[in-house]
Amino acid sequence: MRALTKKIVITGGKGRFAKTLKKNNKNLNLFFPDKKELNILSIKSIEKYLKKIKPKYVLHAAGLSRPMNIHDKNISKSIDLNIIGTANVVKICEKYKIKLIYFSTNYIYPGKKGNYKEHDPILPINSYAWSKLGGECSVRLYKNSLILRLCMCEKPFVHNFAFSDINANFMFHEDVIKIIPKILNKKGVLNIGGKIQTVYNFAKKSNPKVKRKSGKKIFPPNPSMNISKLKKII
Ligand SMILES: NC(=O)c1ccc[n+]([C@@H]2O[C@H](COP(=O)([O-])OP(=O)(O)OC[C@H]3O[C@@H](n4cnc5c(N)ncnc54)[C@H](OP(=O)(O)O)[C@@H]3O)[C@@H](O)[C@H]2O)c1
Repeated sequence: MRALTKKIVITGGKGRFAKTLKKNNKNLNLFFPDKKELNILSIKSIEKYLKKIKPKYVLHAAGLSRPMNIHDKNISKSIDLNIIGTANVVKICEKYKIKLIYFSTNYIYPGKKGNYKEHDPILPINSYAWSKLGGECSVRLYKNSLILRLCMCEKPFVHNFAFSDINANFMFHEDVIKIIPKILNKKGVLNIGGKIQTVYNFAKKSNPKVKRKSGKKIFPPNPSMNISKLKKII
């Protein structure tokens, strides 16, 4: 597998997913710049770092995610990091012909019927998801790219409560990491998640003390994705 020797830069190199990737990496040639080394708000900073490292791939994981209501409270930060920051990364990847892999979310689907396929109509469920879709728009303009719509979380499940009336297809960061080498050369859009089940059923396997909670007032009932495209790849 030639891809394994090629350099891969992970933006947001000190983030939750990036840290788990660093810990679990076996044979990928990875670089984890923090935001001082590669600041996605500065075209110059992105260009300087990528010119120095000369990667074949950028995994764009930097951005603003939690807490989700920060995207309602501080829309300026949300727009800067998730929309403008992503557009900046796209511009430099295009300039240096670097393959770009963007970390998006399952929450850009409407969350009503579930089992969403990659080309189903989208309707973000909240402001966080709109900001991630804003990022997707610029990535779509660059054809040498892959958008990952992820439903992932840390292991063990970190919260004390899990929704027993919301279906999703969460996957642990560690399991997403196993998939990365197989998708590096794919393009377009790819859903990444596990089995469709209630969030509570998923959570209790790694956190037996987790308690049931209703999520219907906060989330739509079924933001799960169809993962048949992913299954064919792995
Ligand atoms: N968490 C999930 O399960 C999940 C699910 C679906 C999709 N995603 C997406 O996957 C990606 C990674 O998730 P995560 O949970 O690992 O996120 P995270 O822990 O919030 O990591 C994001 C990183 O980006 C950094 N950052 C902030 N501003 C920056 C800037 N101007 N330049 C460069 N880096 C900057 C943050 O640094 P500071 O913390 O120091 O500001 C942080 O280290 C995110 O894009 C998220 O939207 C996550």
